[in-house]
Amino acid sequence: MIDLRSDTVTKPTAAMRRAMAEAEVGDDVYGEDPTVRKLEERVAEILGKQASLFLPSGTMGNTIGIKLHTRHGEEVVCDHRAHILDWEMSMMAWFSGCLARPVPTEHGVLRWSDIEPVVRPRTTGFPAPTAMINIEHPHNMGGGTLFPIEKIEEICDRAHERGLKVHMDGARLFNAVAASGETAARTVAKTDSVMFCLSKGLGCPVGSMLAGDAATMAEARLYRKRLGGGMRQAGILAAAGLVALQTSPRHLQDDHANAKLMAERIGIDPREIQTNIVIFDIASTGLSPAAFLGRLKSSGVLAGSVGGTRIRLVTHFDVSREDCVCAADAIAALLC
Ligand SMILES: Cc1ncc(COP(=O)(O)O)c(C=O)c1O
Repeated sequence: MIDLRSDTVTKPTAAMRRAMAEAEVGDDVYGEDPTVRKLEERVAEILGKQASLFLPSGTMGNTIGIKLHTRHGEEVVCDHRAHILDWEMSMMAWFSGCLARPVPTEHGVLRWSDIEPVVRPRTTGFPAPTAMINIEHPHNMGGGTLFPIEKIEEICDRAHERGLKVHMDGARLFNAVAASGETAARTVAKTDSVMFCLSKGLGCPVGSMLAGDAATMAEARLYRKRLGGGMRQAGILAAAGLVALQTSPRHLQDDHANAKLMAERIGIDPREIQTNIVIFDIASTGLSPAAFLGRLKSSGVLAGSVGGTRIRLVTHFDVSREDCVCAADAIAALLC
């Protein structure tokens, strides 16, 4: 099977497995796991933030990010197809008691001019006040799209002038870095918190990171514990993260080239593909997503349905260029 459902399906590399087997560990809830500490320090250094926290998942990272920057009854501005809105079990309402204020965008990329009209002050006594803005970079349901760095900076600057916080859902931050050529540190410099996943394009079996200033991360550590995310000898998992940070970013350009290649072969302008995600519509085939995916599966290709008649393909380092050619040809045959 050529598995293009998500970049979460990768298996740990031999180097990761070796590092995991040999990891020095301790009880991380007591702050005694040296490998977790090393990973957290390394991530803070790469991102140019004071501190970072190792977490079991990206959903937990976003949940904590929102909790840190909001109070019950406040609003979170996000794109209308944001992961935090559609794919995280309404955690912003469940854990933080907040409302999402979704803003329509074409490909998930918010501009300050989209955000400004929906920002509500804390003082009027009628609308729920705005507390934070979520930037999803790259944007998953937008098709792996990128915010231009100046737009990220503008959103952060304008938000801060109004006393609002900015959280970056950078689940695929390193794909953004590889595609944009900006450093990770510059990309996140003005955000108040940033989450990225080790378990996506970077290929780890488990784990995400949340980063920000030291006081905020100390508070984040308490929310992680409340959510049941206090892990004990987690160095076994963090060890894979350290390997991933060193070795995986260099594969991401190939994943992006493979995504462009597939797009081109199925009739999408490859210039629309910025990272490792290709989303296309199958309405013209007259098939339901289940039927389309079933036929694709019988040709040895797994893809995902992402709502309506939209299908998503995600490249990663467990699919080769040849796999992508093969998969794209199978899709093209169903589309025509
Ligand atoms: C943009 C984005 N944010 C957050 C997440 C959540 O990550 P996790 O599956 O580790 O909870 C995902 C997962 O696909 C994602 O694509």
